[in-house]
Amino acid sequence: MLFEGLELVSALATLAACLVSVTLLLAVSQQLWQLRWAATRDKSCKLPIPKGSMGFPLIGETGHWLLQVFSKIFSHEALESYLPKIQLVIQDTLRAWSSQPEAINVYQEAQRLTFRMAVRVLLGFSIPEEDLGHLFEVYQQFVENVFSLPVDLPFSGYRRGIQARQILQKGLEKAIREKLQCTQGKDYSDALDILIESSKEHGKEMTMQELKDGTLELIFAAYATTASASTSLIMQLLKHPAVLEKLREELRAQGLLHGGGCPCEGTLRLDTLSSLRYLDCVIKEVMRLFTPVSGGYRTVLQTFELDGFQIPKGWSVMYSIRDTHDTAPVFKDVNVFDPDRFSQARSEDKDGRFHYLPFGGGVRTCLGKHLAKLFLKVLAVELASTSRFELATRTFPRITLVPVLHPVDGLSVKFFGLDSNQNEILPETEAMLSATV
Ligand code: HEM
Repeated sequence: MLFEGLELVSALATLAACLVSVTLLLAVSQQLWQLRWAATRDKSCKLPIPKGSMGFPLIGETGHWLLQVFSKIFSHEALESYLPKIQLVIQDTLRAWSSQPEAINVYQEAQRLTFRMAVRVLLGFSIPEEDLGHLFEVYQQFVENVFSLPVDLPFSGYRRGIQARQILQKGLEKAIREKLQCTQGKDYSDALDILIESSKEHGKEMTMQELKDGTLELIFAAYATTASASTSLIMQLLKHPAVLEKLREELRAQGLLHGGGCPCEGTLRLDTLSSLRYLDCVIKEVMRLFTPVSGGYRTVLQTFELDGFQIPKGWSVMYSIRDTHDTAPVFKDVNVFDPDRFSQARSEDKDGRFHYLPFGGGVRTCLGKHLAKLFLKVLAVELASTSRFELATRTFPRITLVPVLHPVDGLSVKFFGLDSNQNEILPETEAMLSATV
């Protein structure tokens, strides 16, 4: 007993000694780092160096800088410059869907569309169509295996994921090199341009590895979430023809109801989109009832109380977006798809900040939320004005929540193009039009 007690005391003493040493080491290195910063001052100059710090050893202010670059990529000006490109990519895609004699698997094609938007618009890569198709297939293989057990065996999901990532990184490196060499003929700065420029301004040349990782992360964040929301949008417009008609009326009133000839091709503006109040309600309601991301994780920084219980500092907690939307008392008939709940007259979301959070909240809120909303709005405008679409199956499919919310069969839909008089365009004409884009 005595020996066991002594062993325990000695183990505790060793642990305490380790902790004290690590804390001391961290404190000393932080002080040395501060001293190094102070030592860089030019002694021949009497002026003091500015207040602040060099951030943390090795990584410095990189995190802070990255956050700033991120906000620049999604600023109002940046979104305005992406808008015509996004509209063209969507118009091009809808024309291709309408020219198909058979039904479209909406979820799969929406994934292709968001991938194309991320690669062509956000990253500004001019990859040939065939290579883009191949890259998309590899990307799907990568995403399918992201959440696999880290067991590196032949044919394991992990091995397939790693192989897909290697092929992707090669393809991205080629595209980045080509882009860096050929900067002429571009009329706007895409996200990658902003990232590179901003790093130069901060005296930090990004390495090829950093550029590849950054582009892969951007595609990853944008891809599945936006494809899920786009599919839900199409499904709800199919289920609720009255909502689609009301949307068309709003567009008609604003002179935006155009057909296959696309008189307003590439001419949508951010302020025009913001003025479409009902469109805003429709997108908000899709994101409330069919939130693509179910929740997020946080580390508790300070002990707090929840419903009479303490949640201790250091715990990992998950917040559920879906449960929040399902149980928020501010929403009447929570399971009903009712865009008007967000109308000015009702504004069900006006009380409280934490009842509606499809893009998360706090400091780690979604950086691309304005871009995602912009994309969904343009998709809705184009669908309402240039297409007629009908369900190709007898009943609507079930919804699955994993890995992001989507219909189990992908949602099978037949699309028809509409001309400027809202008459259907024959598929042959549509095929001819899309071949000339
Ligand atoms: C409908 C589409 C989208 C939805 C529903 C969505 C949702 C979310 C949510 C809920 C989070 C926070 C997760 C957490 O709390 O930990 C998040 C984070 C993030 N999203 Fe999105 N997102 C969408 C589209 C996009 C797009 C288009 C981009 C960029 C191109 C993007 C970039 C990001 C980034 C970079 C973060 C991480 C922010 C950070 O950790 O500081 N998202 N997104």
